[in-house]
Amino acid sequence: MDTRLLLLLLSLLAFIAQAELKKHGKHDKRRGREKKHRGRFEDWAREFDQSDDQSEDDDDEHDGGWLLELQEVRGSCDPNPCLNNGVCEERRNGKIKCDCPKPFKGRRCEKAKKVCRRNTCRYGTCVLTSTPPFYECKCKEPFKPPRCESDSICDPDPCQNGGKCVKDGRNFECVCPANYDGQFCQVGPEDCYEGDGESYRGKVSETEDGDECLYWNSYFLLQRGVDPFTAFDDDDGLGPHNYCRNPDGDVMPWCFIRRGRKLRWDHCDVRECSDNMTTAEPPTTTRSPEPEPVATTTKAPDVTTATTPAPVSRNATCGKPQPRRMLQRIYGGMKAIPGANPWQASLQVKLSGSNQDFRHTCGAVLIHSCWVLTAAHCINKNQDMQVVLGGLDLGKKEDFEQTFAVEQAIVHEKYRETSAAVYNDIALLKLKARNGRCAVETQYVKTVCLPNATFPDGTECSIAGWGATEDSDYGSSQLMDADVLLISQDKCSDASVYGRIVDDNMFCAGYLQGGIDSCQGDSGGPLTCERGGTHFLYGLVSWGDSCGKANKPGVYTNVLNFMDWITSKTGGIFS
Ligand code: ARG
Repeated sequence: MDTRLLLLLLSLLAFIAQAELKKHGKHDKRRGREKKHRGRFEDWAREFDQSDDQSEDDDDEHDGGWLLELQEVRGSCDPNPCLNNGVCEERRNGKIKCDCPKPFKGRRCEKAKKVCRRNTCRYGTCVLTSTPPFYECKCKEPFKPPRCESDSICDPDPCQNGGKCVKDGRNFECVCPANYDGQFCQVGPEDCYEGDGESYRGKVSETEDGDECLYWNSYFLLQRGVDPFTAFDDDDGLGPHNYCRNPDGDVMPWCFIRRGRKLRWDHCDVRECSDNMTTAEPPTTTRSPEPEPVATTTKAPDVTTATTPAPVSRNATCGKPQPRRMLQRIYGGMKAIPGANPWQASLQVKLSGSNQDFRHTCGAVLIHSCWVLTAAHCINKNQDMQVVLGGLDLGKKEDFEQTFAVEQAIVHEKYRETSAAVYNDIALLKLKARNGRCAVETQYVKTVCLPNATFPDGTECSIAGWGATEDSDYGSSQLMDADVLLISQDKCSDASVYGRIVDDNMFCAGYLQGGIDSCQGDSGGPLTCERGGTHFLYGLVSWGDSCGKANKPGVYTNVLNFMDWITSKTGGIFS
């Protein structure tokens, strides 16, 4: 008896195993490299999506019906054995029957009628629905449902304010009446911003470079960890639209844009009310009260002449950023708040004497109107250097930038590089004064304070830079910032982290689990820690094993240990 039961069991197992093999074999062939077994409904959806089936029949092989065939249709309706919302009915003979909603059929409502075929949705994707006709076409722009065939994109006319829709291949263009602008002629003559544009509620939805703004509630933003509705102090003015706004104290309205898979932001192509437009009503504006280094038309490279603020020196104003408002940061560094890192500088180089353009190579930090600190490994012979202060977007010439040539570079005498680490990675750059002045203090250009005491392990400090990010090896054109934690020297020199190559003139900061970190291109830039509302330069980005890797946090030059060196090299201006 026992042996017979065992034999029966074994043969049943063998049968099932064979059936499994057969099934998987088919799937693998059909899907090329796709080997993952998907849920049944997904399988259908996938098949339908690529439906080029000749056979009308619903094929048991790929919808799992083969397994149901093996089973008895006996049983009870509790729990409901009918799939896809089928209604179960118990028959007197102990069998059950599934009443299947359309488009499902089969004993357990496990099969679906193939409503999606190759050309069901010509330029789009066919998806199943539960109501007739049981499919829906998700069309690629500019094609229209029901079957994504018609591209009568001017019907209905998307242009507003009397704009005329003109078809241009698969695109359209709105020819706007005088004084109207924007993709849909939605931007009227009175559409302009005042001051910094915080109160702007107009309809411009394009950036200065012509990129189309993302919707503030776009799924793409959420996917990248950005929820504008919670990220900003003031989400007033944001909504389910893609109009430019300034919720974070920037200098003018801006919006998020998408560049391939990357999320970026940019200032908008929106008019300032005081820029008179010939036919527009004379605006009644109150300009922002601060005297800002504004260059009027083409952006002047030398803005030190545009305002008369005091030269930056090391005084009580060091380490006091003036972002327009204190805001929550986005995603550990999506969009650095203008004015939040006013000591951040970009060290740019070109081949000595060449007429190449300068390119960003490292970060640097303004510690005095004529001095910046950077990493020693950023200084190379045969290169001309310049330092750009106040910039946020390296891809643009910004009104509030200040650019200086480098008069002198002082690399630490004991700077040394091994294959594993960099030692005494610090250098001073003396800016070349113009008309007897170096950096001029503005909201965007300020010195950081030099440290006079240690900060405890675990302190949350801040790093910033234009270096490489998760999705751009070449660095980011926009300044990013992020918060990192100071990691104890013990942990940093633990064998599982960097071991004995770490010395006391450097420290680790970041997260041992990985993630947020500085990276290539950030070197020489600041790690600042705050005490009593003042920001101190505690570290300079120096090195690390890869970026953002677990147990391999960023390593920073310990600025406190180099205070005497800094004092002696700068002629005592810091003593
Ligand atoms: N050496 C790099 C640079 O030149 C900085 C590397 C920082 N690495 C890190 N994982 N934190 O820009």
